[in-house]
Amino acid sequence: MHARLAVQGFTGEPDWNVIRQVKEAVSVPVIGNGDVVTPQDAARMFTETGCDGVMIGRGALGRPWVFKQVAHYLRTGEMLPEPTPIERMEMTLMHARLTLEHTRFREAVAVRELRGQLTKYHFGVPGAAALREKLVHINTMADLEAILLPALDAQREWEAK
Ligand SMILES: Cc1cc2nc3c(=O)[nH]c(=O)nc-3n(C[C@H](O)[C@H](O)[C@H](O)COP(=O)(O)O)c2cc1C
Repeated sequence: MHARLAVQGFTGEPDWNVIRQVKEAVSVPVIGNGDVVTPQDAARMFTETGCDGVMIGRGALGRPWVFKQVAHYLRTGEMLPEPTPIERMEMTLMHARLTLEHTRFREAVAVRELRGQLTKYHFGVPGAAALREKLVHINTMADLEAILLPALDAQREWEAK
């Protein structure tokens, strides 16, 4: 249940009260959705609406680890640390590899589709903006590796100093 009207697009606040009203009215499980970005948002969605599950859309773009952070926070009340730059770059490569492993599209089509998602990662390294600019033009997994593997090596070397 995404508590916005289609005409609103992503503008304006979603009305979580509507999710609570739906939850009170139906007997099937209700998944609450809309503007959940942090683990605290997810916790608030559960308490304010009584929903059975929370769905995260935009908050997971470039941040797929958010699900682990949310699960950990709901279980323990503790915030897991944000991933390191190295972990972020490794995650970006894994994201692309897993997509290519499972997609029914050929590589060129899938990688072009991936561009918009991979550019959502914030690596937190010097020159990250230039890396992102290069990611906009990739056509193959090899293109992606040619950009990210040297950056990963450079970061590992820098951290080893
Ligand atoms: C990349 C992306 C793709 C989406 N695709 C669909 C879709 O195919 N069908 C749909 O009903 N909603 C789609 N949505 C909307 C989400 O399901 C969700 O309702 C919306 O993003 C609001 O949640 P959020 O605030 O967590 O992003 C998409 C959202 C994003 C960010």
